[in-house]
Amino acid sequence: MLSGTFTKPSQMIVALDPFFSSSNAMHYIREYVDETAAENERLQNLTIQKKNDLQNEDAYRLELLPRECKIEAKSVKGVFYAVQTLRQLFLAYPHAIPCCRLEDSPALPWRAFMLDVARSFCPIAEIRRIIDILATFKMNVLHLHLSDDQGWRIISDRYPNLGEGASGRYTKQEIKELVAYAQDRQIMIIPEIDMPGHFTAALSAYPAFSCTGGPFTIPNGEGIFQDILCVGKKESLVFVKQILEEIASLFPAPYIHLGGDEIPLNRWAECPNCQNQKYLLGLPDEKALLRWFCNEVTSYARSLGKQVLLYNDYVNQAYDEKIIIQVWNPLLKVTRSTHPVIMSDYFHTYLDMDHTLLPLLEVYRYGKRLQKKKDFSLLGSVFMLWTEYIVDREQRDLHLFPRLIAGAESLWTAQEQHKYHRFVKTFSEYGAMFLPSPVHITPRKLWNTCFIVFALQRYKRRKRVKRNSKQAGITLF
Ligand code: ACM
Ligand code: ZN
Repeated sequence: MLSGTFTKPSQMIVALDPFFSSSNAMHYIREYVDETAAENERLQNLTIQKKNDLQNEDAYRLELLPRECKIEAKSVKGVFYAVQTLRQLFLAYPHAIPCCRLEDSPALPWRAFMLDVARSFCPIAEIRRIIDILATFKMNVLHLHLSDDQGWRIISDRYPNLGEGASGRYTKQEIKELVAYAQDRQIMIIPEIDMPGHFTAALSAYPAFSCTGGPFTIPNGEGIFQDILCVGKKESLVFVKQILEEIASLFPAPYIHLGGDEIPLNRWAECPNCQNQKYLLGLPDEKALLRWFCNEVTSYARSLGKQVLLYNDYVNQAYDEKIIIQVWNPLLKVTRSTHPVIMSDYFHTYLDMDHTLLPLLEVYRYGKRLQKKKDFSLLGSVFMLWTEYIVDREQRDLHLFPRLIAGAESLWTAQEQHKYHRFVKTFSEYGAMFLPSPVHITPRKLWNTCFIVFALQRYKRRKRVKRNSKQAGITLF
């Protein structure tokens, strides 16, 4: 325990280890520190040192003494997280920060948020705002769900009709700038192109890549739609590979998410091309054809330097062992496998659900629950925002805050230090200060709900997922 407070210096002096000075991300950190100093005039001596004894790249030490502030880290990421903590301390203690010495590192390496920009287009400025918030709370991955039945949001040079005439698409230049913006804030953007299901928007632009030839119209609202990519046509596979090349070249992350969820296989069962492909490959059924397709695109993605993520609907041991499975549906029969896993159980991470179905406490508890699991190779978790019904900033904010922040804390903080009541108190006092103004925060009385309402809502939700899964031919427990 240190005594005293870190008080206002008249001038800021930053001593930066030369190891860090060449990094691009240091611009952002420097800018931030300068801003803070101008506003607070309090950072007198900030020393940033490289130390190799920290346990990982994200870890940092932060020491605040009456006339000095010291950051130690192994990498720029660690420095970045230390600066975020410092920022929070400045906001929480506007007059003088109690002196302290702390060592901090994340409990889980994959701390992600998924934004569905396919159902509702999200302008770039809004995504930047979300990135700023993720960065403040030390999240490090943004899954950008760029395509679905209801929309295709990225301009393709080879296939210009994709997403044409829709309510919004991103240019390649916008994406490049967004990726760089996120990188400076230590956030990796992973593109998510859902296939072979959830593909109506692509098929409406290029119906020849379907089993029936279309025509198709882009649906509204939620649902599982029957028309999926035809995997019996050579042209469809060429299409997918060329799209992957374009997407891979835009996003430097070594990962790509290819969806693989909720795929009704009826069209393949009736399609002469798909049946012929199944026959030529000597496969017993459409599920095996799906596995072949997923393994095929996975190895193509690997040739482009990308590791594939898939939702857990169908993946089993026969799927490429390098696929990272994203477990979203707790009712699915997940065969224990050696695949790396990220978790996004919809009862804990689907922030598009309202608070009666997903109360704040359930979100906060999730990180601890995950940290206790030791029986598979867990990377971390994704908090999800599907946007069929969430169309503007106000709605988005109300769904995200404070639940996303609770989720972020539960993934970063070691389970022994999880304290729900501390989170509620801290967020109530400082949450709005840490978020960009104006922000919409769900009123405190709605954060949790009475048990009966919650249990009833869950029961109804389970029934709906069961019905959807049956429709998609997925085996549940
Ligand atoms: C999903 O919610 N279909 C991943
Ligand atoms: Zn077909």
